[in-house]
Amino acid sequence: MPEQSFILNGEKVTVDVADDVRLLWVLRDLLGVTGPKYGCGINVCKACTSHINGKAFNPCSVPVSRIGEDDEVTTIEGLPDTASQGQRGANGLHPMQEAWLERDVAQCGYCQPGQIMAAVAVVRRARDEGRQVTDEDLDGIRNICRCGTYTRIREAIRAGEQAM
Ligand code: FES
Ligand code: FES
Repeated sequence: MPEQSFILNGEKVTVDVADDVRLLWVLRDLLGVTGPKYGCGINVCKACTSHINGKAFNPCSVPVSRIGEDDEVTTIEGLPDTASQGQRGANGLHPMQEAWLERDVAQCGYCQPGQIMAAVAVVRRARDEGRQVTDEDLDGIRNICRCGTYTRIREAIRAGEQAM
């Protein structure tokens, strides 16, 4: 089987796996990185949302061979390391994670790693465009929460944005 290399949460990883295996399974089954959750496997539920080169993507829909060796994949496990020490909160986490804890957002929790990764990507995109997150940005987050925590998610994103 071919070797596939990429950067995962700041470290180079190499796996021996067929080209067409989706990245979510490489992360979860081969590398033991289980923050990105499996919900649908077809790029709909967004439970697996992670970042590639700082932008949100859904690894359930990307064959591992499409990831280059210089591509940086970040999962919820690696998110704290993307924040400076000064930005991190009382638990040493990324400000968006801290905002989630302060507002007790999670119910069952299954969707929440993906929600947080989507939230950080939305704030970054707004920053790149020189503006604040708008209600339209929040409406554009498509991550499904079966427990219906959407109101608290929106509040936490607003708070996390201020701390980022
Ligand atoms: S599991 Fe990836 S979008 Fe649903
Ligand atoms: S907290 Fe249960 S699915 Fe979102």
